[in-house]
This record gives sequence, C-alpha cells and structure tokens, in this order.
Amino acid sequence: MYWSFLFLAGAAAAQTPFSTPNWQGLFAAGSGVLESLKPTTDLAFDFSPSDVFSTRNGNGNSHTGDISFRYRLTGQNDWIGADSATNRVNITSTEPQDSTGLLESDLDSLWPNVSSQLHVTRLWTQYQGDVILNFTLANVADTAIELGALGLAIEMNNIFINRTADETMQDCVLLDPYIGLGAGYVQVTRLTGTGPDMVITPFGNLTKFEAWRFLPERNNPYYQQQTYEGNYAYEIYTKAYAEQEWNATTPWNTPTSAMISPGESISVALRFSATSSVDQIEDAVASNDVPVAVGIPGYVLPHDIVGSLYINSSEAIQSMTVSPENGLSVSARNETLSGAWQAYEVLPSQEAFGRTRLDITYASGRTQAIHYYITNTGPDTLQNAGNFLTTKQWYTNTSDPFHRAPSVISYDYSVGNYVLQDNRAWIAGISDEGGAGSFLAAGMKQFIYPSAGEVAKLEQMVNETVWGYLQISSGPQKYAVRKSLFFYQPSAVPGYQYNKSINWNGAWNEAAAYATDRAYDYVHVSALYWSLYHAGRTTPGILTLQTPLWYLNQSYNTVAYTFGTSANGAPNTGYGDDGLMGETVWSYLLDSLRIENLTAEATNMESLMRARQRVWASETDPFGSEMAWDSTGQEGVYLWSTYFNDSTTANKSLNSIRGYMPTVPHWAWNGNARRYWDFLYAGKIPQIERQIHHYGSGLNSLPLLASYRSNPQPGTLKSLYDLRVAFGGNMGPLSNVRQDGSTSLAMHSYPELLEWDPYSGDYGPNFSGMVMGAGTYLVDHPVFGMVSFGGNIVSNMNANGNGDVTVQPRDAVRRRIFIAPLGLYVTFSAGAVQEFTYEPSTGALTVSVGKAQVDQASNAINTIMNFEQTSSVLGSASVTLATSGLTMQQGGYLVNLPSNGTTTLTFSKTSN
Ligand SMILES: *[C@@H]1O[C@H](CO)[C@@H](O)[C@H](O)[C@H]1NC(C)=O
Ligand SMILES: *[C@@H]1O[C@H](CO)[C@@H](O)[C@H](O)[C@H]1NC(C)=O
Ligand SMILES: *[C@@H]1O[C@H](CO)[C@@H](O)[C@H](O)[C@H]1NC(C)=O
Ligand SMILES: *[C@@H]1O[C@H](CO)[C@@H](O)[C@H](O)[C@H]1NC(C)=O
Ligand SMILES: *[C@@H]1O[C@H](CO)[C@@H](O)[C@H](O)[C@H]1NC(C)=O
Ligand SMILES: *[C@@H]1O[C@H](CO)[C@@H](O)[C@H](O)[C@H]1NC(C)=O
Ligand SMILES: *[C@@H]1O[C@H](CO)[C@@H](O)[C@H](O)[C@H]1NC(C)=O
Ligand SMILES: *[C@@H]1O[C@H](CO)[C@@H](O)[C@H](O)[C@H]1NC(C)=O
Repeated sequence: MYWSFLFLAGAAAAQTPFSTPNWQGLFAAGSGVLESLKPTTDLAFDFSPSDVFSTRNGNGNSHTGDISFRYRLTGQNDWIGADSATNRVNITSTEPQDSTGLLESDLDSLWPNVSSQLHVTRLWTQYQGDVILNFTLANVADTAIELGALGLAIEMNNIFINRTADETMQDCVLLDPYIGLGAGYVQVTRLTGTGPDMVITPFGNLTKFEAWRFLPERNNPYYQQQTYEGNYAYEIYTKAYAEQEWNATTPWNTPTSAMISPGESISVALRFSATSSVDQIEDAVASNDVPVAVGIPGYVLPHDIVGSLYINSSEAIQSMTVSPENGLSVSARNETLSGAWQAYEVLPSQEAFGRTRLDITYASGRTQAIHYYITNTGPDTLQNAGNFLTTKQWYTNTSDPFHRAPSVISYDYSVGNYVLQDNRAWIAGISDEGGAGSFLAAGMKQFIYPSAGEVAKLEQMVNETVWGYLQISSGPQKYAVRKSLFFYQPSAVPGYQYNKSINWNGAWNEAAAYATDRAYDYVHVSALYWSLYHAGRTTPGILTLQTPLWYLNQSYNTVAYTFGTSANGAPNTGYGDDGLMGETVWSYLLDSLRIENLTAEATNMESLMRARQRVWASETDPFGSEMAWDSTGQEGVYLWSTYFNDSTTANKSLNSIRGYMPTVPHWAWNGNARRYWDFLYAGKIPQIERQIHHYGSGLNSLPLLASYRSNPQPGTLKSLYDLRVAFGGNMGPLSNVRQDGSTSLAMHSYPELLEWDPYSGDYGPNFSGMVMGAGTYLVDHPVFGMVSFGGNIVSNMNANGNGDVTVQPRDAVRRRIFIAPLGLYVTFSAGAVQEFTYEPSTGALTVSVGKAQVDQASNAINTIMNFEQTSSVLGSASVTLATSGLTMQQGGYLVNLPSNGTTTLTFSKTSN
C-alpha cells in the first residue's frame, strides 16, 4: 500500500517546525524525531532537551519518535530486532496536506533487512490540540508475523549535566511511568514543581503500557550518570524480552505479542498533553478518556487494612482478575459518587505477601493494571524488622580489628550473612547511610515499640562500639562521628584477611575512614541516642546501662558538635548547611530538651538550626547535597523553615518535592521520590538505576504530611493530592521489609532485575521517615466522602450525612491521629489508639487509647498526650479537651494506659 504523501515533496533535510493549539515544537532534520516541544502556555520552557540535541544526535542516541521492535515470521524461532536509533540515515519525511497531519515518515530505509517484511511508517499528527505520535507496522511478507516487542522511546529533558542547580530546576523534568496497560501513562514533571507538566497517554485501543524499558546508550560517557539517569521506552509488547533478557523475573504485566496477517497492519499511538500542575495530571488523563484509578491509602496494603479503590471511567468495567489468584478480593461498594466515579473495597488476603496485580477489563476491551504490594501489619512489620536487625545482623566478634562489635551491621540477604568487607568501606563500617542504616532502623524501632532484648543490645552497642570508636569520646574532637570503622589498609591490621576477590581500588584507608567531617553521619548517631532516651522515658526499666538523660545529652552533644568549630575556627563538618536525611528527629530532640528543662541546650540547638535556615532563606535553590541534584535536603529545609516561620522557603521545599514524587496506581512508583544513584553507594548491585522505595519515599513524606496538617483547606482535591503522595511515600518503606523481617535499601526497577537489592544498606533513613510520619488521617473528600488514610472506617455516617464516623488506626505506629475537618492533630508518646469517633454535626471527638501490644511497648503504664489545631480550617472556632482531671507532665497530658481496655478522651468544638 502506498501513501498519498509520497507524491509530495520530501522534507528530510531541514528541521520541521510545527504548532498545534497546545504545543509548538520542532522535528529534527533527517530523522524526524522530536527535537523541541514547548507548551503554548509557557513558550519559554522546552520539555525536550533541544539545547543539547546537537550533541546527542548520533547513532544510538534515542529520542522521542524512535521505535524499536522484535518480530518473527511464522515458523521462525529467533526474533529479528530493529531500532530506529541504532543507525541513523536520513529518511523520507513529508508534511501531510490535511489539516491535522504534522509530519509523516517512511522508516523503511533504516532497516533494509526488515523492510521487505514489515513496512513501518510514523505519523506525527494533532488531535484536539495535542500532539499524537503514531506508528503503523504493515506486514508486507507473505506469511504471518508475530510482533514480540514494540517500544516507543521517550526522551525529555532530564539531562542535568553542565547546568547549575538553578538551571537544572528551571530547565529540567523527570519522567515517571504508570505501567498500567491500556490505562498506563508517563508523566513528565518539571523540577520547579509548579508546572506546566505533561502526560503521555495511550491513543487508540491497541496501545498499552506493558513495560518501561531502560534504553542503554553505549559509548556515551555522560549517559546513565548522576546528572543524567537516561531514557526509557514505553513498551507495548514484551514477549520477546520476557523469553530472553527478562526470563529470570516476573514482569509487572503479562508479556504479550501481536499477530499480523499478510497484508494487514497494526498501529499504535501516544498522545502528548500539557497540564498546568501535578495535581491536574489525573484530570488530563481522564479528559483523554483514559480510565483513572485512585487507591486509598495507596497500593501498599498491610494485612489489616481495608483498601479503597475509586475508578473514574466512561467505560463500564467488564471483569476483574487478580494475580496471583486470591491475593486480594475486590467488591463494589454501595456508594453513589458524582461523575463516573465508582467505589470498590480491596481486601488483602491474609496468606498473600508481596506483589499482587489487579487487572481490569473495560467494555471496549481496554485493560488496566493496578499494582499492589501486600505486607504484614504495620506493627508486625516493625517487630519483624527489629528482631531481624538485632539477631541476624547482630555482630559480636569482639576480636574484629576494626572494633565493629558489638553492632547491628549491614546484611547481605543473598548469602545470608553480614557484610564485613566491601570496597565501599562505610557499608561494612557502620557509618554513612549505607552502613549506619541498620542500627538507625533498629534504634528508631525502639522509639515506637521498645523491646527489652533489642534495647539491651543497642545500649551495649553504644557503650562498646559507638562511644569511643564510631564516635570519639574524649579530647577536642569529643562527639565527632567517623565516616567508617572499616577501611582498607593491610599494614594497619596485620593478619587481617582482606577478601582478594574484591577490587580494593579507591577504598578508604584508615585516615579517610576515620575522618569526621560528614554532617550526615551525625544524624544517625544522634537518632540512636534519642530513641534510647525515648524508650527509657516511656517504658520504665527498659534501660539497664544508662539513664534516659545520659542518652539525651549524648544526642544533643552530637548535634552541637556537628555545627561547632575547632580551636582554629574551622567548621567541624561539611554539608551542615544542607538539609540532612532524617533530621526530623532533631525536632523531637529539641522538644525533649525543653521537656527535660535543658534550657541552655535547647536554646543553643535552636540557634544552630536558625543559622542553617538563614542560609536556605538566602538561596534560590536551597537543596544542595553531595550530589549535583538531590531529593534529600527538602525534609530539613521544610522542617526548620516552618519552625522559623519562613513560609516562602518552606513552600519551595514542597514544590520541589511535587516535582519528583509522583502518585500513580502502582505501589512501586506511588510516593516514590526520585532516587537513582544510591545503589552505587549502598547496594549489592551497584548501578545507576531508578530505585523503588529508596529512602526518598519515607523522608519526603514528612514535609507533605506536615504541610497537609497545616492546610486550611484540607478537603480540596489539590490538598488531597499532596496527602496521597505523602501516604504513598510513608507506607512505601513497609514494602522493603521481607516476610522474615530482613530489610532492603530499595528494589531494582529494571525489568531484568525486579528484585529487592540483597543489601540492607541505607534502608534506615526510609524506616526512620516512616515511623516519624505514620499516622491515621480522617478526611472529608469532596467526591468520595469521609475516607481514612492509614485507618479503617468501621462505622460511617448514613446517606443523609448524619451520625458518627469511627476509625480504627492501622498505620505502623498508631499514636498519631489527624482529623482534617477539625485541623486537629492528637499525638501520644506511647500506647496505641484503639479507635476514635468524630461527630461531624457537632465537631465532637472521642479517642480511646490503650496499651500497644508489641514487645515491651505494652509495659508503658501511661502516655503523654498532646493535641494541637495545626490549621485554621475552623476559623475562629477551637477544639478543647473536654476530659477533665488530667495532670500535665513531660510537656503534655498524662493519660493512664489501663492493663485492660482503654482510656477515652473527649474533645469538643467551641465557637469563639
Ligand atoms: C542528512 O541530513 C542532514 C541534515 O539536513 C545533512 O546534514 C546530512 O548531510 C544528511 N545525511 C545524508 C547521509 O544524507
Ligand atoms: C559539558 O561542558 C563541557 C565544557 O563546555 C563540554 O566539553 C562537554 O561536552 C559538555 N558535556 C555535555 C554532555 O554536553
Ligand atoms: C495512525 O495513523 C493511521 C494513518 O492515518 C490511522 O489509520 C490509524 O488509525 C492511526 N492509529 C491510531 C492508533 O490512531
Ligand atoms: C534466558 O535467556 C537467555 C538469553 O537471554 C538464555 O541464554 C537462557 O537459556 C534463557 N533461560 C531460560 C530458562 O529460558
Ligand atoms: C445501597 O444503598 C441504597 C441507598 O442507601 C440502599 O437503598 C440499598 O438498599 C443499598 N443496597 C445494598 C445492596 O446494600
Ligand atoms: C478496538 O476498538 C475497535 C473499534 O471500537 C474494536 O472493534 C476492537 O475490537 C477494539 N480492539 C481491542 C483490542 O479492544
Ligand atoms: C561499658 O563497656 C565497658 C567495656 O568496654 C565496660 O567495662 C563497662 O562496664 C560498660 N559499662 C557499663 C555501664 O556496663
Ligand atoms: C521542668 O521545670 C518545670 C518548671 O520548673 C517543672 O514543673 C518540671 O517538673 C521540670 N521538668 C523536669 C523534667 O524536671
């Protein structure tokens, strides 16, 4: 079949500018791939890296508009592969004369061996103002063709190299996939976090998002680096990969292929739509008539959570299937919602654990995959992790020449043993995130659920390994924290057998390991001390070596040293002026100093934090770190900017997070803040690769949760967008804990791996973020009505909106509840909230709190309750504690935790 455009003049030699109502751009000369794509709402901004196009327009550099595929003829076993980026020759392109066509190209000259069997054409066109990328593959052979792979390369400007931090923020984007078959899409978000953003949705009912395949670029030294993660392809068929490169894994979706009869063709297409901001992405998807799914609390489902799933689709749902079978059950809820929304209840099976997929088939045949991850209950997960960390990872070899024993040390799940040697010294040297992660998690576990055995081991670790070795215990450097206890220097440890199979090039020697200038390392040690202080205060008798105050002072002095100077005036550490991972624990520490009347210490600590905040307030992009671009500083910058009432800088942090933390109906990307280089520093498989639920998830959830609580309009879709991202991030770290309690720093997202990295590595900060943020939120959603994030609604108002709402917390911690319609945050230092009841008509709230039944947390005989109206949602009305007779202690209300049953507290709303 010949196309009419072939009779028109060829136009390959020059760039082709185009414009549609929503876009202006350029197709590249010669190849006709996308070179520039600017939204008409902001023509100063280019989604496509047009400014470096000329440096990456060679063979092997993929661009949007490139296609790769594998096929075989009937009777053949081997797949024949082709990729339009491999060997660039100028192809014939024409500008169609009809009103919608933008550029049409015949790709046959790219692959002479293929063109006699498959005739491939590409058509850029416009539809409703958007740009459409359409490929037609016609079988011109005389036998049937099986198309076993078909991928459309997506390139947008995620190239940070040679840009200042500020330029990176202004010029660059990140791409996140929703690998959801016929409802799957790619979102492209600006690093400003303030849009405009883009969605790439399937167009036509054959196009489905089966996999997101990384596109290697060989001989390209600046590709797949910290400053350039690289590009991926939207894969529509993946059977050929599943048979070969990916045959060791279970792919996200069932791999498929397409049969094309002789003389027939198939066509697939993607639609590029601009959207004003991240919270509008789902609306843009829906207005392209692609189904949208919203899960609450998200897609990581602990065994005791009743999930909710809301589907917005113009098409009727024909069937649903679950894989593995019986992993969860879905049932329609009897709720009438506005628009096309439908409500479902999702119950995880008690036997299920790990990945579970829900496939939905719509009336047209369109499919949608929603990817869940089922975990043990939050408390069980914490308990299992605490147990594993302090048994399997408890290292006791006191003849270790590096003085690492006793300690909670890194673990390699693939060999079932400690990581005692690694070229990256810190992983084996119990410092840096990669090596401190395990004791940090073990410590923060005691903050929530103290266990006598675990606390005893951690106290012993402090006494024998931290104080005096990991941390200098006397002299002018008292409280300094070392970068690693392990090092590579055979002369310093005579007789020690370094593993000869490890390449020791570049490994730290003793001097490098013993340096104390990395501010990040101080957070971990101060968190360990503070957790032991907290355990001691809430659980009398649990500390056996030191007093709570000893640990509190150690924690404080560790922080004070971080920001101090030596006798000659040099700063003790570097990076102190950056936000530091997990430093939210320092706000707890500051509170504790006040509660304990350590007033001078509290004052000093506050002034240290104020000085840092002043630096951030003066910076355009206050999110510096050890890396050229990072998603780590925002937590601390938000925390202290809020504390010192600098809402401008605090909002910058939130916007930054919105630019790199997505929500999609896939547990692995939902709330998964952008991380892609820390497998190099903490993983067993060290490569630049998008990480699934690395610590960005837990840590970045903290500012989003805090800002939600202070939002005066908690019931708007815009506010709830942030909350959904926050819960995705906060619950993500549950998935890093295996059934046996072992932990992984992150999961590998490449389709040939799809597994949790064997190293425990730097999981600690993720765990820390989870436990500092976990809570149960009750919100009044404008479409879904009363919903709970983190808890189960066990009784709700009737259809007329009368009656009470009762919620049972199911989050990992169960000590923090937020009632959004009251803007009320109620927290407890110990115990567990059994349930709470909110009466919308009066604003009354009752809260029942009892003992936490996990480890020795059940020994706490009372708890300190605090409550705060964190937002102005009630205007001049206020919430007061109606329960009388409580005494004040430790900065809050002392509440008895009875040996059986609960204590009930009552709050009421009073208009002023
Ligand atoms: C392909 O097109 C480019 C741009 O017009 C031109 O510079 C180049 O010489 C062409 N290459 C071939 C092999 O024709
Ligand atoms: C970055 O800039 C340097 C110096 O101008 C240049 O040599 C290099 O090619 C640039 N790298 C990229 C990837 O553009
Ligand atoms: C792609 O373009 C061809 C030619 O105009 C058209 O027949 C086909 O329907 C289009 N495919 C899709 C998925 O829109
Ligand atoms: C997996 O694919 C590789 C080639 O990528 C092949 O060598 C191997 O035999 C395959 N394994 C199985 C079990 O099919
Ligand atoms: C669904 O709700 C409606 C309205 O509240 C009620 O009349 C109906 O009986 C309910 N159906 C079921 C199956 O519960
Ligand atoms: C796509 O839509 C067409 C026309 O609506 C229909 O005939 C066809 O069966 C659909 N294909 C699939 C795979 O659902
Ligand atoms: C701390 O450990 C040392 C050995 O390093 C031991 O002598 C000392 O008794 C321990 N302190 C306490 C309070 O147990
Ligand atoms: C701190 O001081 C206040 C006021 O003097 C006192 O009521 C409180 O008991 C003190 N707290 C502690 C932990 O000593």
